[in-house]
Amino acid sequence: MQDTVVPPGKGALTEEGMDPFVDLHAEIDRLRREKNAVILAHFYQDSEIQDLADFVGDSLELSRKAQATDAGIIVFCGVRFMGEAAKILNPSRTVLLPDAEAGCSLEDSCQPEDFRAFRDKHPGHLSITYINCSAAVKALSDIIVTSSNAEAIIRQIPEDQPILFAPDRYLGGYLNRITGRNMMLWPGTCIVHEQFSERELVKLKVHHPSALVVAHPECPEAILNLADHVGSTKSILNFTQTNKAEKFIIATEPHIIHQMQKAAPNKTFITAPGVDGDCDCANCPYMEKNTLEKIYLCMVNEAPYFQMDEALRLAALKPLQRMMDMSPPAVQTPQSSAA
Ligand code: 13P
Ligand code: SF4
Repeated sequence: MQDTVVPPGKGALTEEGMDPFVDLHAEIDRLRREKNAVILAHFYQDSEIQDLADFVGDSLELSRKAQATDAGIIVFCGVRFMGEAAKILNPSRTVLLPDAEAGCSLEDSCQPEDFRAFRDKHPGHLSITYINCSAAVKALSDIIVTSSNAEAIIRQIPEDQPILFAPDRYLGGYLNRITGRNMMLWPGTCIVHEQFSERELVKLKVHHPSALVVAHPECPEAILNLADHVGSTKSILNFTQTNKAEKFIIATEPHIIHQMQKAAPNKTFITAPGVDGDCDCANCPYMEKNTLEKIYLCMVNEAPYFQMDEALRLAALKPLQRMMDMSPPAVQTPQSSAA
């Protein structure tokens, strides 16, 4: 598979070579101004990173921002598939990823050669693929979706059209249940969302009877069955803001609580428990790779950056652009603007 992330070259500034007294916030701001850069961050990034970003959002919103920006440099504080999508949508910009190793278990679960074999085995099927995959897998797909537009896009497909859905089997299963489809599912999972414990969640609900449970559709069915609201990160955030309840149990990556707490400081947000009870296992280990130091270094070095064959980019653009064209229009809310 083509590696689309180019690491910093020889002579690049490293963490060891950095001035230990550098004011990272001031330097990132200076570089942002001088280099005409925009900093985009996903809701799962550390709160410090969310606070310095120009825009914080879910996968779909970040793709839209990346496509529309006229900044010369996009610093993508998220994981590889997100930055790669930004490059596919806006190839004339330099797209930086603070840590080249920031991957995703769903992307890893779906290698292009295996995915091609899956498609070949099911001729006549339309392939709808979650954006959490590599450019090579996108290039082999018909339509890309995110968790915020998947249902609306699937409902636009004629009912007699068989569909393959990859790579998240829990999201695919959830979409099958709500749309009444019978999409064939790739067996991938998100290592963060699959670890929530049904048993511990039931116990927590007993302790907090007034709390509403909100969950990302990457969670297993048993967790979704206990949820009062299921949706993308943005949809969950909106729900906690607009619903009158005072207490919420959050079954997704807990760094999103930062935005929930900012939007509703008097409400209480509790992280859904994993099988091990009080562990930090709901933190996404890939998202956590990005740090302030690495943001500063990538802006100085202008690397790691995305680069891909134009043939691959164009092939991956086709299903991504289809997604953009089939997505319901964005709804403007306070979090859609600056962080
Ligand atoms: P959203 O599109 O809901 O932000 O989800 C991205 C993701 O990776 C969830 O694990
Ligand atoms: Fe991938 Fe899961 Fe991390 Fe989202 S939370 S980036 S799906 S590993």
